[in-house]
Amino acid sequence: MKVSMVTTVILALGIAAGSLAQNIATTRNAPLDVELKPAEMARVDNSDVKRKRAYPMQPPTIPHKVDQYQVDLNANKCMSCHSRRRSQDSQAPMVSVTHYQDRDGNFLADISTRRYFCQQCHVTQDDVEPLLANEFVDIDEILRRDSE
Ligand code: HEC
Ligand code: HEC
Repeated sequence: MKVSMVTTVILALGIAAGSLAQNIATTRNAPLDVELKPAEMARVDNSDVKRKRAYPMQPPTIPHKVDQYQVDLNANKCMSCHSRRRSQDSQAPMVSVTHYQDRDGNFLADISTRRYFCQQCHVTQDDVEPLLANEFVDIDEILRRDSE
């Protein structure tokens, strides 16, 4: 009995993985057994121009290159420009006060461990066409439609 249940689960997982693989194949532009030439590495946007946020709480995307910017136990290169202490010299925007709060909302003197690994939330943007269509609609657009 136990064995047959395990078999059923494995079978179900297999089928799920199978259909997943089919979806992935649609962005692949070739059958799974054909090895494609990988696309060239895209250029990271380094324009220094801030981008609009899709909603007020969105982590802003990074408008500059971050190659070789080390963030580990010993160093946080991002904070060498974006910390409160450094922002006058660097002219980088200071990380907002939420980055200095612990999970209970207390304000800390230094960056919160919850916000230490910047690229968990902030990403650079490549100069590429989106792989998939995106139907995201800005809240302003929804409000405008509602008022019509
Ligand atoms: C050498 C200084 C420097 C370093 C290091 C640096 N930044 Fe920046 N960053 C800036 C400056 C200056 C700006 C303002 C826009 C510009 O000039 O690119 C900026 C802008 C940003 C913004 C956009 C803020 C907004 O309001 O739109 C984000 C997000 C950001 N940086 C994240 C990072 C992360 C994450 C790292 C580390 C991987 C990092 N930065 C490392 C100087 C720096
Ligand atoms: C857990 C997600 C998360 C992490 C990790 C994180 N941030 Fe943010 N960041 C956000 C969000 C969300 C916002 C916008 C809302 C806010 O200010 O809290 C933001 C805002 C910012 C801004 C804009 C501040 C302003 O006042 O306009 C900068 C600059 C920034 N982050 C840099 C950093 C840097 C540098 C690190 C790493 C030391 C970092 N963030 C880590 C989520 C994160």
